Amino acid sequence: MDSLLKVKAIPNGPLQVTGVFEIMKPDGEVDSREGTTYLCRCGYSNKKPYCDGGHRKNGFEG
Ligand code: FES
Repeated sequence: MDSLLKVKAIPNGPLQVTGVFEIMKPDGEVDSREGTTYLCRCGYSNKKPYCDGGHRKNGFEG
């Protein structure tokens, strides 16, 4: 796998993050991720920091 972490903003949707990384949640828990992960950027997800598709229901534009 390419070692460069790639981040792509999906139009009207999440950030698509591809690569190996760790993310620290507000409670201090650390998730290790590998492959493709979608991070919420609309604020509507019930599974933050991950996208749960809530951007579609709420008509997020950005
Ligand atoms: S970007 Fe998908 S729920 Fe926020």
